[in-house]
Amino acid sequence: MSTSMLGLDGKRAVVFGGGQGMGEATALCLAQAGCDVAVVDLVEERAEQVAQRVTETGRRGVTVVGDVLDDAEVPRVVGAIEEKLGGIDITVSIVGQSAFGAALDMTPDTWDLDQRRNLRYFFVLSREVAAAMIRRGQGGAMVAIASVDGIQGSAYHSSYGAAKAGLISLVKSLAVEWAPKGIRVNAIAPGHIVTPRLYDTNERAAYYAESPIPMKRRGQPVDIAKAATFLASDLASYVSGVTLPVDGGLLAANLINAGHVFGRPAR
Ligand SMILES: NC(=O)c1ccc[n+]([C@@H]2O[C@H](COP(=O)([O-])OP(=O)(O)OC[C@H]3O[C@@H](n4cnc5c(N)ncnc54)[C@H](O)[C@@H]3O)[C@@H](O)[C@H]2O)c1
Repeated sequence: MSTSMLGLDGKRAVVFGGGQGMGEATALCLAQAGCDVAVVDLVEERAEQVAQRVTETGRRGVTVVGDVLDDAEVPRVVGAIEEKLGGIDITVSIVGQSAFGAALDMTPDTWDLDQRRNLRYFFVLSREVAAAMIRRGQGGAMVAIASVDGIQGSAYHSSYGAAKAGLISLVKSLAVEWAPKGIRVNAIAPGHIVTPRLYDTNERAAYYAESPIPMKRRGQPVDIAKAATFLASDLASYVSGVTLPVDGGLLAANLINAGHVFGRPAR
C-alpha cells in the first residue's frame, strides 16, 4: 500500500509513553507512515533512544521528558511538543498500568491509583491537546490504549478493569463532543501483549500456545502499533468513538463452548 493512502505524510504525532514496548513500536510505525514524532516519556534515556530511531527513518524525532500523570506538568509537556513540532495532529496515549490483587484486599488508595494512571490522566491530557488542536483549527486524531479487561471481567484486575471501562466510555463522549471540531477519538483494547513489563519466557509462550486465544499466541507491540496507525490515519477518516480489540480473537470467543466435546458434529 502506498503511504499516501494513509494521509500521514508530514503529520505531527505524539506518543505519550513512547519510550518502550507498544509506545516505541507505535512511534516507529507512525514515522514509517510519514509522521514526525514527539516521544514523551518519564525516562529521558528511553525517549532519546526511540527519537533517534525515528530520525533514522528519515522523519523528525523529538523528545519531551515529563510525567503525564501530574496535572501541573501537562500544560508544559503539551506546550513543549507544540514548540518542537510546530503543532499536534495525532496523539497515541500508551501510559497505563494495573494493580493486581483480590478486590477484598485492595485498598481504596490502590483503586484511586488505577483510576488516575489509566482514566483520569487521559481526561486531563486529552483536553489540553484538544484545546491546542482547536486553536489551530485543523482537527486531529487521538488514540487511547484501553484493555480487554475494560470490556470483560478479569479476576484480580477490578480497579484496572473499571478504569479501562471508564476510558472506553470517556473516548465515546469525547468523540461526540469534539467531532464538530474535526477531532476523532478512538481506543484500542489490547489482549495479551509481549511488552518489557510482561517479559516473555518459554514457560509463558507455552502457556499462551495452549490458551483459549484463538490465534494461539500473544500479541507483539507492533500489532498494537499497526492498529494505532490505522486509527490515526485517513483510512479511519469516518471512525470515531470506537474501541478496537487487538487480541488475537480473544473477545470473539465463547470460552466454554463445549459443543465440540458433547455436541454432535454438524457434519
Ligand atoms: N501488555 C499487555 O498485555 C497489555 C494488555 C492490555 C492493555 N495494556 C495497556 O497497554 C499500555 C502499555 O502498557 P506497557 O506495559 O507496554 O507500558 P510500559 O509500562 O512499558 O510503559 C510504556 C512507557 O510509558 C512510560 N511512562 C510510564 N508512566 C509514565 C508517565 N506518568 N508519564 C510519561 N511516561 C510514562 C514508561 O517509562 C514506558 O517507557 C498500558 O495502557 C496498559 O494498560 C497492556
